[in-house]
Amino acid sequence: MSRGRQRRRAVWVCQECGLESPGYFGRCPSCGAWGTLVERMVEGSAGGARASPPRGALHPLSEISSAEQKRVPLGMPEFDRVLGGGLVPGSVVLLGGDPGIGKSTLLLQGALRLAQRGHLVLYLAAEESPEQIKLRADRLAVTTDRVVLVAETFVDRALETAGELHPAVIIVDSIQTVSLSHLDAAPGSVSQLRDSTAQFLQFAKRTGVPIFLIGHVTKEGLIAGPRVVEHMVDVVLYLEGERFHQHRVLRATKNRFGSTNEIGVFEMTDAGLVDVGNPSELFLAERVRHVPGSAVVVALEGTRPILIEVQALTSPAGYGTPRRVATGFDVTRLQLLVAVLMKHAGVRLGDQDVFVNVTGGIRLVEPAVDLGVALAIASSASGIPLDPDTVYIGELGLAGEVRGVHGLERRLQEAMRLGFSRAVLPASSRLTSQLRGIAIVPVRSVAEAVSALAVTAVRSRRHATPQPPE
Ligand code: TYD
Ligand code: MG
Repeated sequence: MSRGRQRRRAVWVCQECGLESPGYFGRCPSCGAWGTLVERMVEGSAGGARASPPRGALHPLSEISSAEQKRVPLGMPEFDRVLGGGLVPGSVVLLGGDPGIGKSTLLLQGALRLAQRGHLVLYLAAEESPEQIKLRADRLAVTTDRVVLVAETFVDRALETAGELHPAVIIVDSIQTVSLSHLDAAPGSVSQLRDSTAQFLQFAKRTGVPIFLIGHVTKEGLIAGPRVVEHMVDVVLYLEGERFHQHRVLRATKNRFGSTNEIGVFEMTDAGLVDVGNPSELFLAERVRHVPGSAVVVALEGTRPILIEVQALTSPAGYGTPRRVATGFDVTRLQLLVAVLMKHAGVRLGDQDVFVNVTGGIRLVEPAVDLGVALAIASSASGIPLDPDTVYIGELGLAGEVRGVHGLERRLQEAMRLGFSRAVLPASSRLTSQLRGIAIVPVRSVAEAVSALAVTAVRSRRHATPQPPE
């Protein structure tokens, strides 16, 4: 801006949270990080009279057209589900994830799908060369002239190109490798990230072109750089999964245009990411039946119930405090469940290490899986396998009570669809519709559930047909 009297001034910018301060601090007063303030020169008006911006126009609510009608589906059902039905015009979507998890692949596939329906996609290749991206497209076995790559790291110039090209969607790969030419900070630094994101936002809002930003994730699991980027954009998605597992889960942590509960499940194959329409079948595929420490839980992710196997292993602890280790499950929650089992169900775990693993690289966040996790632990501790045709649904309270969960019928229907014949449920559950074909075992407390385990075991031994693990 050339309005007002401009001069360059020095500010100190925190590289963690983006705080700007006129002076130096050893410790950032905003986020508390040490030694993160870096000096920058910025353009600033020196108190000169600023031209006041134009006043905002008035829009009666009834005259604003609904964004819902204008959503553009990508044509990848699992991706669209997480977006809330498709891309909203003018929205900026940040896609985060560990390096190598499949972010570029996912967005390139989205671009190719859009192109197949005639949309023009501009792909800003700031991290890899167009040849590398072409290699990826070759693996996906699609070629099109409606996806245009531009090897450019400067945001201003990329947006100029976009202004001339009028694409339907822009993909920025990645936000950490682009920069604004007039800022003397390195790409990936707080000021570059924040100002670049601001430029993309302005462009998206002005032209209505939706923009995807790819962002790398730090070891702590946050999008590298300032949190401000997450606050600025409309949607924040994370692509998660174990690198050496085939499953990938797409999750929204923020969505101004939809729910953040929905997840998308994909499988990484030789030809890119493939939608997994029936995640339960995939997650249960490798289950070994009649082994102690395995329970099937029903997690309700958004509107979709998913059956997942939880495995627990208890083993005598060495010296010191016994360990509680969880993969795909919150460790604090695990500690709590162990305490509840010890106190209210008499399960002896005080001298045992407890390991819990959620299969398939998925992360369970819902309390409704508590009962299943607790029973998997009790089963491992007692050496008695749980009935493999039973699902466990219920939240555990600190008093050992089994609490009700929402969406029970939907969960039961999915369990029935997959051939489960029994469900252990909170006694307080009210089931409205008739659920034939699944036996209901109501339990009031974790103690009741654990003592039912012995009964279950007899039944399961009677029905047991030795099944070698595949
Ligand atoms: P990539 O999209 O480059 O990850 P990111 O952008 O998140 O860093 O993909 C990473 C991995 O995916 C890479 O190790 C190769 C693998 N991959 C497949 O297995 N199949 C495929 O069809 C493609 C394109 C990639
Ligand atoms: Mg990439």
